[in-house]
Amino acid sequence: MTAVGIDAVEVWTGKLSLDLAETFAPEQGDDPAKYTKGLGLRESSFPDAHEDIVTMGANAAHRLMERKSLTPEDVGRIDVATESAFDNSKPVSTYIAGCLEQVYDGDFHHANKGERKFACIAGTQSLDDACNWIRAGRNRGRGALVIASDTALYERGDAGEATQGAGAVAMWVTEDPALVELSVEQGYGSADETDFLKPNQQFPSVDGKRSIQVYLARMREALEDFESVAGDVGPDDYAYAPFHTPYPGMVRKAALLAYRHTTRGTDVEDALAEDIGRQPRREAFDDESAFEDAVSDYTDALKERSEYREWYDARIEPTLAISERVGNWYTGSVHLARLSALHHAAANGRDLAGEKLLVASYGSGAQAEVHAETVRDGWREEVDALSIFDRVESRYDLSFAEYERVHDRHNHAKQAELDAFTTPEDEFVFDGWGPMNERTYRYVE
Ligand code: HMG
Repeated sequence: MTAVGIDAVEVWTGKLSLDLAETFAPEQGDDPAKYTKGLGLRESSFPDAHEDIVTMGANAAHRLMERKSLTPEDVGRIDVATESAFDNSKPVSTYIAGCLEQVYDGDFHHANKGERKFACIAGTQSLDDACNWIRAGRNRGRGALVIASDTALYERGDAGEATQGAGAVAMWVTEDPALVELSVEQGYGSADETDFLKPNQQFPSVDGKRSIQVYLARMREALEDFESVAGDVGPDDYAYAPFHTPYPGMVRKAALLAYRHTTRGTDVEDALAEDIGRQPRREAFDDESAFEDAVSDYTDALKERSEYREWYDARIEPTLAISERVGNWYTGSVHLARLSALHHAAANGRDLAGEKLLVASYGSGAQAEVHAETVRDGWREEVDALSIFDRVESRYDLSFAEYERVHDRHNHAKQAELDAFTTPEDEFVFDGWGPMNERTYRYVE
């Protein structure tokens, strides 16, 4: 079967940033270490006054099309994943196509467009849809633009406020891709949950502590389901394991679960048993809470072990480098984790071609998905073409009072007036409202 996957990626970060330790923590009366060490976050990204999910998505897609010398004729499909949509009928992909048509000759009338919703996992689902469209032979030689764009804002004062973020990831999905090939094998863990939801409201209702447990439970199911089709996963089978990253501390918990799961019944567990005992087995316990206490004790001991720490430092920590600087981008988050890993390999001169990634996505509500990706020969050139950290560094650093005004600006109920902090250049900007209450956009050179 022909390889299908991601040929190239571009990223657009919201142009403003909030320093969590220096600026946010003092206003909350919190120890800065809660953010930097506990949650594992340094900064959040925010959209400037003229930015929203359309401008960020269109700007990432435009950058991608320019770099790959694509024309509208090359694009057979535009899928946008978001959970920040402002229209219940007209998809964000049509607004983005409209933006791109302002700067390209030709149009996207031939391109199938849609919008995917399932919390943060929708980005991966859109990627999956695009791959399947190509595998089914329905693409007529064209590729798919898959764009994950979100403004992840919480109600002021909500515990989730520390994990906010905003940005877009645009992926070019083709046959014979340069970056990664996606496996056909996938595993799912899916259940009707109310951990995080937005029933006709902009800001989420969140049961924060429970959301952590639901993430872990669905992730374990997805990993087991993946193994049922792809075979057992060993801890060293994959060069990196990018996870959905609402904040790095969540991934630290998921990594412990993954390591426990993939070492159970192996020589690694036997070797560790001399010092920390064997992993608790559910069948050996009469009641669930005694079993959970035993798992918690084992996990606490495991995370101090050098075997685990070395594994974590090599395969998980490198996936968090972008996330800790930008916060949660919801649908784009796991795709940033993949990029962080590839960037780490490039920065360390590692030849990754032919190696595998284990990619673990999650969306509240709730569903996890696990699949494998094989790194392709052209990966290095693609990663070198990205300048994500330069863009992160060039954001405008907000004071707390400015942050409050930015939050009010993007709060749909307030839509407060705000002068932009940055000067638009070579980018799409939000321009006001049209006669049908549609948002309008223009390109600024
Ligand atoms: P919180 O109550 O503000 O924080 O809420 P906390 O008190 O639990 O502290 C956070 C961590 O910092 C803890 O670590 C503390 O111990 C530690 P843990 O025990 O969990 O390992 N800590 C410190 N460490 C060092 N020095 C200190 C210090 N103080 C505390 N001084 C919570 C945290 C995540 C619940 C909150 O931010 C929240 O509600 N976030 C939104 C929900 C969320 O992100 N859930 C994650 C899983 S669900 C998901 O990923 C889906 C999502 O992306 C949405 C979608 O799919 O669309 C959110």
